[in-house]
Amino acid sequence: RRLLGTAGAVGAGGLLVGGLAGAAGAAAARDDKAPLSGVGTAALPFHGTHQAGIADPAQAHGHLLAFDLAPGADRKAAAALLRRWSATAAELTAGRTPKGDDTGIALDAGPSSLTVTFGFGRTFFDRTGLTAKRPFALEPLPSFTQDALDAKRSDGDLWVQIGADDAFVAFHALRLLQRQAGDSARLRWQMNGFNRAPGATERPLTGRNLMGQIDGTNNPKPSDANFDERIFVPKDREGADAWMAGGSYAVVRRIRMLLDTWDHLSPERQEKVIGRRKSDGAPLSGGTETTPVDLDKVNPDGSLAIAGDAHIRVAAPESNRGAAMLRRAYSYHDGFRDDGAPDAGLLFIAWQADPMRGFVPVQRKLDRGDGLSRFLKHEASGLFAVPGGCAEGEYVGQRLLE
Ligand code: HEM
Repeated sequence: RRLLGTAGAVGAGGLLVGGLAGAAGAAAARDDKAPLSGVGTAALPFHGTHQAGIADPAQAHGHLLAFDLAPGADRKAAAALLRRWSATAAELTAGRTPKGDDTGIALDAGPSSLTVTFGFGRTFFDRTGLTAKRPFALEPLPSFTQDALDAKRSDGDLWVQIGADDAFVAFHALRLLQRQAGDSARLRWQMNGFNRAPGATERPLTGRNLMGQIDGTNNPKPSDANFDERIFVPKDREGADAWMAGGSYAVVRRIRMLLDTWDHLSPERQEKVIGRRKSDGAPLSGGTETTPVDLDKVNPDGSLAIAGDAHIRVAAPESNRGAAMLRRAYSYHDGFRDDGAPDAGLLFIAWQADPMRGFVPVQRKLDRGDGLSRFLKHEASGLFAVPGGCAEGEYVGQRLLE
């Protein structure tokens, strides 16, 4: 879905669709007459079967926001809010500046691959009298032994994911949506993350995380025959949650990395913990980054090439009755903690058609002790129902709220 501008190189994960037409169209619609170049020109359509910001590559800058409805804000107020937010997101993602009450923060920039994705948390349904339509998939996540969750930075009635390849474009969207929440909703928590900038590497590569690993290699790909089935709720969904047709469930975890401990491990130990080489992401069973992992391969000394507790063995669909998810994360760095350790890690976002056949069984298994878990702390958590995309003139969530 990504339309490339002149810069060519964009983020990790494949999925690059060439073509200048959409990007040029977006640029022409801007108030500013000067032609855009580079990453600014890339535009992703807001309208469609699925919301943007799920199957497209994660951008260089991300903001995750959760809002709670204000006391007294009902279903009508929520519908009006989603209508305002959708209209603004549609304008901004096309590179247009909303008329009237704008802040001017991104006046000189193009859409820069902006996506804005909206979701509903479990508590939204009681507050709006829509309990009967709450999907079963929004049952609270089980608690895991390694959780150290901060309730103030977890959950929320409404969730917004903003991504853009320019920091000002991303902040502009955040600021407008926050202002438009008005008296209807107030911000509950916000997290800011980043990925490698488009064009930073010689050619598009899978990105790295703050442990230095290539991360995202064995993600489901839109070209996989079962991609839609794994990631999106079926289009012909019936029953109380029929409004989720074409939608997806997002599990959001703020996972702090214990980098001071991790950095003490030798590169060889670090590679054993994951099961892949640090330099190029190749599995320790051999080949290159994209070579299928051979979990049965045995070294000449009789040991497993991919260790028994290696992250990629424990997390693999083969070890979890096929459970799979699309990981589309942002790294974060919020300075330093009182103990001097970096407050840094991964804003882990897992997308799946059903969390019970994606995140939950896999995290249960990782929690029992894969090699990586002892270098991580899960500090915040959320589960959100992200409805399908909307057509022009509609708003996200309309099938639930009208
Ligand atoms: C694979 C890192 C947390 C599920 C990987 C890979 C790395 C990695 C480097 C190998 C490359 C790839 O295929 O993407 C991390 C880090 C984490 C983290 C640094 C925390 C900060 C999680 C969590 C889950 C998860 C919480 C799910 C509950 C997976 C899955 C794979 C994977 C399913 C692919 C396994 C395969 O089929 O080969 N992770 N991971 N990861 N991770 Fe994680």
